Amino acid sequence: MDPLILAAMEARANAYAPYSVYAVGAAVLAADGRIYTGCNVENVSFGLTVCAERTAVLRMVTEGCRQIMAVAVVTRDGGTPCGMCLQTMLEFSPAPGSVRIACVDEARLVTEFTLAELIPHGFKTELRPI
Ligand code: THU
Repeated sequence: MDPLILAAMEARANAYAPYSVYAVGAAVLAADGRIYTGCNVENVSFGLTVCAERTAVLRMVTEGCRQIMAVAVVTRDGGTPCGMCLQTMLEFSPAPGSVRIACVDEARLVTEFTLAELIPHGFKTELRPI
């Protein structure tokens, strides 16, 4: 079992999703060689829900790393990350065509995409981080 997928599966076990009952686990392999995990955390005020993927990316940044190498996401049906999460990944992916995203279902079927495939025309402007 790929350690990145295993980490996403373990994170999924902690998903707090009592409203949608759709548990998501994510794991980011970062440029520092570490794996950062996240699960979705819902709220009775639904709009406050945070996705698993963004949780993982924010944990990476909080620990001082700003580059994603690969991502694994585990759901019941192998769902791909939502647009908000893809745009967040793009911010920390200088080469989106090389960032592999493994979408895994409960039967452990893995479907692989690149970040560029999933968000080919993400938002960009001339603004640069300073
Ligand atoms: N969710 C994620 O965690 N990641 C995504 O990319 C899409 C959706 C969560 C949010 C909510 O808790 C549940 O899945 C159903 O939408």
